[in-house]
Amino acid sequence: MIKKDTISACFLKKPARLAAAVRWKNLMLSAALLAILALVVSMEACRKSDAAPAVRKLSLEVPAGFPPPEDLFKDNPITQEGFDLGKKLFYDGRLSKDGKFPCSSCHQQFAAFATFDHALSHGVKDQFTTRNAPGLFNLAWHRELHWDGGINHLEVQPLAPITAPNEMGETVEGVIAKLNSDSRYREMFRAAFGDETINSQRMLRAMAQFMGMMVSANAKFDQVKQGKASFTAAEQAGYAVFQAKCGSCHKEPLFTDLSYRNTGLTLDPGLRDAGRMRITNRREDSLKFKVPSLRNVEVTAPYGHDGRFFSLGAVVDHYRFGVVDGPTTDPLVKRRIGMSDNEKSDLVQFLKTLTDQSFLKDPRFAEPVE
Ligand code: HEC
Ligand code: HEC
Repeated sequence: MIKKDTISACFLKKPARLAAAVRWKNLMLSAALLAILALVVSMEACRKSDAAPAVRKLSLEVPAGFPPPEDLFKDNPITQEGFDLGKKLFYDGRLSKDGKFPCSSCHQQFAAFATFDHALSHGVKDQFTTRNAPGLFNLAWHRELHWDGGINHLEVQPLAPITAPNEMGETVEGVIAKLNSDSRYREMFRAAFGDETINSQRMLRAMAQFMGMMVSANAKFDQVKQGKASFTAAEQAGYAVFQAKCGSCHKEPLFTDLSYRNTGLTLDPGLRDAGRMRITNRREDSLKFKVPSLRNVEVTAPYGHDGRFFSLGAVVDHYRFGVVDGPTTDPLVKRRIGMSDNEKSDLVQFLKTLTDQSFLKDPRFAEPVE
């Protein structure tokens, strides 16, 4: 914490030490030089620890054609310091009970922050999550989070994985105590929020700043829209199929309309996941899940809320041949979605134009090197 008395102590020391330095200079030149050096060093130390933190404002870039984002940062203005703190937390194993499961263990950048190659993700004590980890990007446009929309604000989301016994298995108090024992964190909280107080609200706000800034809108698809690239014939044909058969739920430019739908997947007897109904308790929400964005979908396999599909082709075949018509199955997929094998292959080519390499490799979101 910056205390007023530390500041004045530093100012008071300066003239006293200067006077001492002057006396020593008369006696012995080399000693004086050393003293001056020490003085400079101590003044520098005083200056560093006393300087009022100057935060550097960042702003959420809204890509051309995107709707306005949710108003998530009204009370939590994004700054470079808050973002950097949020990033450090996101990559820090100490947020989990045994130190081994940072957020980034399940949300890997090269997989657009989904879990690479895992239907369900590993958490503490050899346990598994009960759902597939979604990619993390464009979260500032999500009114609600998780497959069932059970979380209503990005700022509180991390409480769920931190305290879930099958994910990070920690308590908020436990995390705060660990952070408090690290002087680097005290310094970073001060830089971001003005003093060294480490509490859950500040921790959550910093993480929201980091995650909120993750914007993915520079795929080949976007470049084509901006006239900077062009589709191949297959991609173009696939885009037409997409617009006709998929685009009303996976709506551009987010490639989700953020609604909850039942796409006619059979109920997994082990997981027995009723989706949105778990939150609303309404029968009409049974088996509905949030429409996932298809941006970066090439790298977020496996697919679906429980990761049951291992390829894009398998997902498309579900729409063609696998849809089960139950009481809540969406009218758009109820009668299955017919298409030829060629159309399917073009459609998959099109989906791959949604991969945003610059996002997957963006050093701003990569693990911080210290
Ligand atoms: C053990 C694996 C695991 C860990 C660790 C983990 N997550 Fe997740 N994350 C998931 C899964 C699985 C879901 C989907 C949960 C659901 O829908 O019920 C998810 C969902 C999310 C979502 C919602 C995305 C959306 O589109 O709705 C966000 C945001 C998120 N996680 C951030 C974090 C943060 C921040 C941390 C660290 C504090 C973290 N996760 C740690 C597996 C994990
Ligand atoms: C009725 C709305 C709707 C339509 C139409 C629709 N989808 Fe989906 N899609 C969803 C929902 C909801 C999910 C999540 C399903 C689940 O896991 O329960 C999903 C999941 C997916 C996934 C998995 C993504 C992931 O990250 O797990 C892909 C890929 C996909 N859809 C592609 C398509 C394609 C291609 C079409 C057109 C042939 C299409 N969808 C039509 C609603 C729809």
